Amino acid sequence: MASSTIKLTIRGCCQLCFDAGGILAKCSAGLSACSSSYRNMSSNRYEPSAKTEINLLVTPIEEAERFMVDCFKASGTPQKHAEIVAKNLIEADYRGHYSHGMNRLDMYIRDIQGGMCDPKATCSIEKETAASALVNGHNGLGAVVGKYCMDLAIQKAKTAGIAMVVAHGSNHYGIAGMYSLQAINEGFLGMSFTNTSPFMVPTRAKKATLGTNPVSLGAPALNGDSFVLDMATTAVAVGKIELARRKGTDIPKGWAMNDKGELETNAEAAATVGKLMPLGGDEINSGYKGYGIGMLVEIFCGILSGSKYGPHIRKWGAHGDVANLGQAFIAINPQCFADGFQDRMSDLMGYIRNMEPIDPSKPVLVHGDPEKIHMEKVKKDGGLLYVQNQHDTNAKLAEELKVKPMVSKKPS
Ligand SMILES: NC(=O)c1ccc[n+]([C@@H]2O[C@H](COP(=O)([O-])OP(=O)(O)OC[C@H]3O[C@@H](n4cnc5c(N)ncnc54)[C@H](O)[C@@H]3O)[C@@H](O)[C@H]2O)c1
Repeated sequence: MASSTIKLTIRGCCQLCFDAGGILAKCSAGLSACSSSYRNMSSNRYEPSAKTEINLLVTPIEEAERFMVDCFKASGTPQKHAEIVAKNLIEADYRGHYSHGMNRLDMYIRDIQGGMCDPKATCSIEKETAASALVNGHNGLGAVVGKYCMDLAIQKAKTAGIAMVVAHGSNHYGIAGMYSLQAINEGFLGMSFTNTSPFMVPTRAKKATLGTNPVSLGAPALNGDSFVLDMATTAVAVGKIELARRKGTDIPKGWAMNDKGELETNAEAAATVGKLMPLGGDEINSGYKGYGIGMLVEIFCGILSGSKYGPHIRKWGAHGDVANLGQAFIAINPQCFADGFQDRMSDLMGYIRNMEPIDPSKPVLVHGDPEKIHMEKVKKDGGLLYVQNQHDTNAKLAEELKVKPMVSKKPS
């Protein structure tokens, strides 16, 4: 049986690198200057736009979590819910998806303060069978709804073998992988999906109609190893286009389109218009497959649950209406199928990881490995590296909410 050793490579250092999928691998933490910035999720813009000297500070995970719990509690969130959502955001940062971690704290707090989300809401089951449930999230925090639904799916899968739970009345639930990991912890396969505000333009259309609709599949392997696919169904994250705009570089054909329905290579124009191509890009590059997976997510989420769907979901950053997002969660007990599931998972992943790479400095990975690599880096750094702009936002929040500021230190 092949070994499952992962050779570590670092794919980026800061929020922007990770938003950009690690394409700024040379922008290493603590090295000179990085053109990084903080993405204000309310405006969906990076700020500031100019190159800034980055003063990265290390925040121990427990301290980052403590700060977020305090902020949520000070905004009227019960302790239990505050802990769930803070853990969710921490997990995103820990795994290197900084765009979905503390970066969202300000947006979540504003949604609570503006009455767009009810932090006290608890879920209720509207319909259920032995292997399914329809849940009403009652406009609660997405992380709370998501955890409840995956817990329920796991509980049902323990007797039914496989279970699917869908929710309406939810809000932004963070990284889709969070819920697959929840199932993996029970030795189960887990899948999760959410619909989101319109960004993706269907193949042959001109208007953004579907969201970035992420999908995740997690599968346990031996000795704590796992496969975790966790991805948006658009060609790239919005952050990659924002990054190209600030660098003044063009973007490849297939990432975005303009208002005329043409493939857009000018990053400035693409970022302004906000029309993303589906995974795969244009029709000739099979973008209709990514569009199809985006539809799959929407069918599982919005259509099955009766939440808002596709073009009916509020625009990203709009705060005048509740989100009413739909989400879906599947738990599968592998023991209901052929014996030795985890052995075969480890064998397959070990085989792939040990394949000869094109570039010896870039080993072949399986899904979830980049996140594991980042987690190793966090441990080595002694905590999470947030850029100065995040610290500035936190300082303002601490003052406004009258909570103890987050304590960070210079990297050693
Ligand atoms: N809640 C929402 O509304 C929402 C919307 C969109 C995305 N997201 C989240 O944003 C995060 C980032 O999404 P993304 O699509 O930019 O992810 P990504 O492109 O960074 O990674 C996608 C997947 O590919 C894997 N991967 C990356 N490089 C690889 C390689 N060389 N070999 C093998 N596997 C590799 C990763 O482990 C991951 O599973 C995800 O956690 C997603 O759930 C959330």
